[in-house]
Amino acid sequence: MRIPLLAGNWKMYKTVTEAVEFVRGLKEALAGIQGVEVAVCPPFTALYAVARELQGTGMALGAQNMYQAEEGAYTGEVSPVMLKEIGCRYVILGHSERRQYFGESDEMINAKVKLALKHGLTPIVCVGEHLKDREAGNTEKVVGEQVRRSLAGLSAAELAGLVVAYEPVWAIGTGRTASPEDAQQVNAFIRSLLAEMGGQEAARQVRIQYGGSVKPDNAAELLGQPDIDGALVGGASLKVESFAAIVRAAL
Ligand code: G3H
Repeated sequence: MRIPLLAGNWKMYKTVTEAVEFVRGLKEALAGIQGVEVAVCPPFTALYAVARELQGTGMALGAQNMYQAEEGAYTGEVSPVMLKEIGCRYVILGHSERRQYFGESDEMINAKVKLALKHGLTPIVCVGEHLKDREAGNTEKVVGEQVRRSLAGLSAAELAGLVVAYEPVWAIGTGRTASPEDAQQVNAFIRSLLAEMGGQEAARQVRIQYGGSVKPDNAAELLGQPDIDGALVGGASLKVESFAAIVRAAL
């Protein structure tokens, strides 16, 4: 059985003080919860403080990005070695905002995925189509290319341990979510593609999340789909009440 992963992507929100306060509240709200995995992905500046707050809770820490080198003269970048040392389990890679505003290509994302795996981080690899792709009937073509290219050259075992997040770009931060049926269809398509790439067993094990305007009132239906193994939550992960409600919807 795949354990659902509910991950909060805070994007560029929360100072260290706000982050620590949030995590204290979340620990209280989710005390004793079992059967789901919860992760928070704060900005780099708050990772260390949040790591300390999360100790002993079973909740995981994730970063929102990393650079594809272990160290070097790359001003402003952060390496997987640094993330691993402070206790990150996950790293979000290839988020559509990184693709769109920072020019990240599938090839770059592929290099990041490989280096993250080498250092024992679990990548949460984001894929998703733009509205024009969906309207032109090209969703599977676009998402399929992103999956094949970003995950090229990985072994079956590496594929099995990954997290993929299907995030239609038109649903991110818009309040317009994919219907549970549409999301399920794309997630099932991604799983079938992963079966071609790494075999049935890897495809059976890999967790595929949905992301894009997940809220407490739509979470249960989305998370109830057979190929949706959790959610990558943006806006609604910034408040303890709404994030905790989404986590509970996965139970
Ligand atoms: O990584 C999270 C996604 O971009 C979703 O963001 O829940 O604010 O739509 P959202």
